[in-house]
Amino acid sequence: MSNEVRRFSHGSRVPGWDDAVDLTKEPASVPDPATTPVPDELRAEIEAAMAKYPDRRSAALPALAAAQRHHGWCSPEAIEQVACVMRLTPAYLTAVATFYDMFDTQPVGRHRVYVCTNISCSLRGADELCERIEQAAAGDPDISVRHFECLGACDIAPMASVDGVYVGPIELDEVDELIDDIRNGRPPLPRKQLRLRPTADSLPLDGKDNG
Ligand code: FES
Repeated sequence: MSNEVRRFSHGSRVPGWDDAVDLTKEPASVPDPATTPVPDELRAEIEAAMAKYPDRRSAALPALAAAQRHHGWCSPEAIEQVACVMRLTPAYLTAVATFYDMFDTQPVGRHRVYVCTNISCSLRGADELCERIEQAAAGDPDISVRHFECLGACDIAPMASVDGVYVGPIELDEVDELIDDIRNGRPPLPRKQLRLRPTADSLPLDGKDNG
């Protein structure tokens, strides 16, 4: 039987998820609070998350999310800080961060654009849309574009999540405007934002408000 692990060229696997462990290194221990400075705001967020659970390890996801917000990605320093506050080893948190693909363990742009290319979106042209968005954002270190599996908003296919804001259906000729909105700190395509629609079916799939 082949041991080959299936990889997806479009990047739906998190880079680094199967990086080999360096067996020559000593396992990292729980960081020493005396030598691990943690920003007050981040510490408070992590402690608030831990306070919600009887087992502090249950707070690993919100704690890592807080660290990612604070540092921009789950850098070794960010993981060290979470480990210090949670009294866990960096290895425990690295295992969690590399499993869930909304945690970035490599540096990424400040703005995250997830373009859904799952079945409903791909049937409505998501592959071409994703390519167009990648081209429009090419060379901009502030914008990271990646394919994503179903984001649970198939009724607005083809769609994308822009820093967590769901936008769709996105037409190819709206891509430049979308990227321009992101670059200039404006809300992305407000007329296409799911959260601004009164009901799921109030906007026809052509994206025009005919009523
Ligand atoms: S297939 Fe794209 S949101 Fe479900």
